[in-house]
Amino acid sequence: MDKMSVRDIEVSGRRVLVRVDFNVPLDDRSGEITDDSRIRATIPTIDYLTERGARVILCSHLGRPGGQVVDKLRLKVAARRLSELLRQEVKATRDCIGLEATQAVASLKNGQVLMLENLRFHAEEEKGSTAFTRALAKLADIYVNDAFGTAHRSHASIVGVTSYLPAVAGLLLEKELDSLGSILDKPPHPFAVLLGGAKISDKVAMLDNIMDKVDCILIGGGMAATFLRAKSFEVGLSLIEDNLATATSLMKKARRNRVQLLLPEDVVVAHKLSPKASVKNVPVENIPQDTSIVDIGWLTITNFTRELERCRTVFWNGPMGIYEIAQFAEGTKAMARVIANLNATTIIGGGSTAEIIIEMKLADKMSFVSTGGGASLRFLSGETLPGVEALRDKERVLVPGEDG
Ligand code: 3PG
Repeated sequence: MDKMSVRDIEVSGRRVLVRVDFNVPLDDRSGEITDDSRIRATIPTIDYLTERGARVILCSHLGRPGGQVVDKLRLKVAARRLSELLRQEVKATRDCIGLEATQAVASLKNGQVLMLENLRFHAEEEKGSTAFTRALAKLADIYVNDAFGTAHRSHASIVGVTSYLPAVAGLLLEKELDSLGSILDKPPHPFAVLLGGAKISDKVAMLDNIMDKVDCILIGGGMAATFLRAKSFEVGLSLIEDNLATATSLMKKARRNRVQLLLPEDVVVAHKLSPKASVKNVPVENIPQDTSIVDIGWLTITNFTRELERCRTVFWNGPMGIYEIAQFAEGTKAMARVIANLNATTIIGGGSTAEIIIEMKLADKMSFVSTGGGASLRFLSGETLPGVEALRDKERVLVPGEDG
């Protein structure tokens, strides 16, 4: 990484504003956190800072409250979880700027941690307005971005504050960029990309960018229907994206680059997208008109497994079927187990794929599980992430307070 990190600055006794991504899933009824991996992932940075006597001020968004205070999106739930993980009290404020936040920061001692309230309770966070950005920056001497999952946004707490504070990367952000960067730089070959999920449009830019780096692309999930349709198969009631041209041109590009592009040879279909629907495994030539594709079939699982087992690098993004419904989840679960047992560099894109791996308790068996869904796709598309771009380049010698 060519950006400065927390390792490159003196933090002792400094007030350090750390942008984290605590946008964690919450249980609808209890409001409790159902997956705390994004919180756990920031602990190395928080520990690094507190062990060196920094005063740590965490800030994050949670959900999309749209500039309104939404009680069930308060960050005290994350502060509570973090207190348990760190085994030290993490106080939460009821606003991210203003008098209470200023007083809470002023009373922080070296090595203590504070959680500011949800940034998106202020519409100015997403708009990046100057007054809000300055009010946030005024709370600290140094800024650390450890929110890889939000690094593709140009919000006040991601880009704006870097105009007012010396800005460096946290250890999670650094690890994400290094891990994802390694598959763009020099991936051990053969290199396969397994893609699923609903839409091709979300992944076209990424596919385009990595086409000359991969040996094989395996396609499952809802997006397989569009590719199958582009190859003139009938796909019943499956959703296909309006324009088949994208799928056709990606297949052509794969052929030109001598990249093997594997589509399902059989699929699981159902009349209804419901847990009670009856399912059938059919070859792609025989998809009944009144059914939808809900998963990859058994032959496809075998084919994909054979291909993945010969690879030395695998990147996976997107479920193979409608994972939320148990009987449509077999293909996704099978791929997760296969990848977990590979003797290869295995990188899991964030979002729903990461959630599945964590739910199946397979995260420890992967080389790296990204905490960023949209951000990891953007990064692999070759796009610059605004939150990374805004950080200080490595060479510069930094004196805390010089820009404050
Ligand atoms: C995510 O969960 O992808 C990040 O936290 C970004 O959230 P956003 O899409 O609401 O900006």
